[in-house]
Amino acid sequence: MKRFYLFIAISIYCLSCRQAQKLNETQETNRGLVTEHAMVVSAREEASKIGTEILKKGGNAFDAMIATEFALAVSYPFAGNLGGGGFMVYRLENGGVGALDYREKAPLASDREMYLNALGNVIPNKSTLGAMAVGVPGTVAGMFEVHQKFGTLTWSEIINPVLELAERGIVVTSSQEKRFKTYQDLFLKTNKDSIVFTKPWKANDTIRFPALANTLKRIMEHGKNEFYNGEIANILVNFIKENGGIITLEDLHRYDAKWREPIVFYYDDLKIISMSPPSSGGICLAQILKMIEPYNIEQYKYNSTQYIQLLTEAERRAYADRSYYLGDPDFVDIHIEKLISNNYLKERMSTFSFNEATSSSDVSHGNVSFVESMETTHYSIVDQYGNAIAATTTLNGAYGSKLYCSQLGFFLNNEMDDFSSKPGVPNMFGLIGAEANSIAPEKRMLSSMTPTIVEKHNKLYMTLGTPGGSTIITSVLQTILNVHEYNMNMQEAVDAPRFHHQWLPDEIIMEPNVFNKTLKDSLQLLGYSTNENKTPILGKVDGILILENGNLEGGADKRGDDKAIGF
Ligand code: GLY
Repeated sequence: MKRFYLFIAISIYCLSCRQAQKLNETQETNRGLVTEHAMVVSAREEASKIGTEILKKGGNAFDAMIATEFALAVSYPFAGNLGGGGFMVYRLENGGVGALDYREKAPLASDREMYLNALGNVIPNKSTLGAMAVGVPGTVAGMFEVHQKFGTLTWSEIINPVLELAERGIVVTSSQEKRFKTYQDLFLKTNKDSIVFTKPWKANDTIRFPALANTLKRIMEHGKNEFYNGEIANILVNFIKENGGIITLEDLHRYDAKWREPIVFYYDDLKIISMSPPSSGGICLAQILKMIEPYNIEQYKYNSTQYIQLLTEAERRAYADRSYYLGDPDFVDIHIEKLISNNYLKERMSTFSFNEATSSSDVSHGNVSFVESMETTHYSIVDQYGNAIAATTTLNGAYGSKLYCSQLGFFLNNEMDDFSSKPGVPNMFGLIGAEANSIAPEKRMLSSMTPTIVEKHNKLYMTLGTPGGSTIITSVLQTILNVHEYNMNMQEAVDAPRFHHQWLPDEIIMEPNVFNKTLKDSLQLLGYSTNENKTPILGKVDGILILENGNLEGGADKRGDDKAIGF
C-alpha cells in the first residue's frame, strides 16, 4: 500500500513539474529578447542595430544614444529627426541620475497670438502645417551635449554607421508604405516641389538619402556650429523663409540644450526617475501613481472596471493640473514639490468614489496655494557598463509640419502646436492649454514625453517610454503597473491593451476590439463615456527590464516595427 501511495505522489509531482515547465515555456514564448549585457530597443531595426554595434565597439549608452537618435532620423522619418527635439533621462552605473532637455523653442519673432485671426479665432492648420508651425530644432544641440558630457567614442566612430545607412538606404516596411500613402496629399500641399516621399514607395523598396548623408557628414566634420551657425544654418533659414516661416539665424545661434533635474519619486518599493518640465510627463506620472498608491492595486483584477475607474479618475485630475500649472520652467514658476506631495494628491482624490464617475466639469485644477508669486518615438538603452538611458524624440505630428528640406534631407517639426494658441482651445491631441503654456519668444512648449527609468531596491529595474502625444503618460503608467502589479514580463507589459483619460474631452479612449462589452457597459453604467474610434493604438512602448539574474529583457511594442537588439 505504501508503495502505491509513493507511486501516486511521484506521479503527481512529475505531472506538476511538467505543468510548471509548460507554464514556463508559455511565459518564455511571450518573453521579449533576453540578453546578458546590453540592449537597444527602438522603433526600427536599423536604429537598434546601429546602437548595438556602437555598444559592441566599446561605446557606452550615451554614444549609442547619439547613433540611435540619428539612425532614427534616417530610418524612421515619421518621428526620428534632425529637425525636431526631445528629452532624455539617464541613470549611471553608479546610481547618478539626470535629464537632458533638447526640446524646440519658439522663434524670437513669435508672439502669443500668432495663430489667431483678427477675430481672435485659431487659424486652422497654421500651427500644424508648414513653416509657421516650426519651432527652433534642438536635436543636434542635444546630441552634442550628450557627447560632451558622457561620450567616449569619436564623432566619426558614432556617425559613420549612420551616414552609411543613409547612403545605402532603408528598406520600406509595409506599415511605412501605408503611412507614406496616408500623408501624400499633405506632403504635396505643404511642399513647393515634390519630395523624396511623394514617390509611390512600396514595401521592400529601398530609399536612399544622399542629402541627409551629406548633412550628417557636415555635422560630423564641423560640429554643432555647422547646424546652428554654419552652412546648414544658412540653408535651413533660407528654406524656412522661402516657405513663409519666421525662424532666423539668430534663433539658431541662440539655441541651447539644457541639463535638467529629473522628477524623482517613489511608488511602493520603486524609485521612479522621469522627465521634468518643460515636459509634463514626470509630474503627471508622479501625480497619477501617488493618487492610486493608497488603493493597493493588486486587489483589482487586471483591466477590471474598478482598475480602469481608479486610473481614469487619477488621470482626470492630473491632466486638469497639467493644463493649468505646467509650462517652460524658465518662464513659469512650477511648484513641483507641492504638486506631487502626498497631502495635495490625497485631497485631489477625496472627491473620487467607485460608485459613480466624477465629471470633468467638476474637476478644475486643484488648489495649490503658492507663496506668491501621435507621433513621437522612444528608444531605451542599457549598456554593458550598467548605464541606462530613456530618450523620447519627436517632430510632434507625423512627419512634423510635413515641410521637408530636400537640400538637407530632413523634415521640420510642428512643435509650435504644443503651445496653447488660445487658452481653452485644444491642440492636435485635444489637450487644453492655459496661460502657463502660452507662446513667448524663446519659450519651450509643454510636452507629454515621459522617458522614464525605474529603480528597485537601489538597482536599475526598467527603462521605458513611448510616443503618443497626450497618451504617452498613461501608456508609460500602465506599462510600469503591468510589470510591478501584475507580474508581466517586459514584452507582455508593452503589448497589453491600453486605455487613456485626459480630463478633456471627458471620455475613456480605449484601444479598439480588446476590451469586452460587459466591461464597457459596466463603465457606462457608472457614468463613463468610452471611445474606441479615436485611435487604433495607444502608444508604442519600447522598454528594457532587468531580470532577477541580471539579464535584460526587451519589450519592443508589437504595434509597430519596433525591435530589440542586444548581446
Ligand atoms: N509633441 C508631443 C509631445 O511633446 O508630447
